[in-house]
Amino acid sequence: MISRMPDTAGYNWYEGMEVPSNVIAKFPVCGGHMELWVRSFVFIEEVNIEVKRINLDEVKNIIDIKIKENKMFLKQIMNDPICQPVSKYYEQWCEFMDKNIEFWLKDSVKHTKEHCSRVLLLALIIAHQIGLSDEEIYVLSIVAIFHDSRRIDDWLDKGHGKRAAQYYKNYCKENDMHFNVNAYYIMQYHDQDDRVGLWEIEKSSFVDERCILMYKIFKDADGLDRLRLGPDALNVNMLRTEEAHKLVDFAKYILKRSEEV
Ligand SMILES: [Fe+2]
Ligand SMILES: [Fe+2]
Repeated sequence: MISRMPDTAGYNWYEGMEVPSNVIAKFPVCGGHMELWVRSFVFIEEVNIEVKRINLDEVKNIIDIKIKENKMFLKQIMNDPICQPVSKYYEQWCEFMDKNIEFWLKDSVKHTKEHCSRVLLLALIIAHQIGLSDEEIYVLSIVAIFHDSRRIDDWLDKGHGKRAAQYYKNYCKENDMHFNVNAYYIMQYHDQDDRVGLWEIEKSSFVDERCILMYKIFKDADGLDRLRLGPDALNVNMLRTEEAHKLVDFAKYILKRSEEV
């Protein structure tokens, strides 16, 4: 018996359980529960074919394996000369994110910890190429690993930046961790149009002068990983730094490789 209508986001629904359709397609071992929907929202309740119901634990195991393989791939890529100078930061902050940061949207397929890992890597590479200080690299790392942790949906969700910034602030207080106001501002305004974000940062008396540059680098890194949303989702004319322009092919490469595993 089907319990929910499909939404238009491309998900398949199985009696209240949310299973990303792309995961199922890649893993035929899980059987594929053959309840059928048609776009007109007329549906066939019974189908005369043999069906094998998906076991939730099986799906979770498959997703866990995929996440582990993805992490292995990202570790391997650290040997690439472009990554080597930032590999220690990358590994340190990926591990921190995995162990400590809780993401609200646990079944997201668009704003996952893997997305944040790629954004972290791209931000670190741009920061290194521009010659940012250790403190500035620290700021960008913090923003990358927290920035999408408080999303409530996979769409625009304006306000998730502010929620993530508040989560970061509380996290620092509760865990006796150094709080960085630049990271807070960049995180808070990363989901806003540049005109708003840059204006808010420029008028703030709390942040450093270089916060503007860090904001641009972070938004470029996040923007480069828009390629995961589709081949036309990245508008290169929107990239703010020269270094990001040169990283478009690399961003495509790490995304393709991480999707293959
Ligand atoms: Fe975001
Ligand atoms: Fe993001």
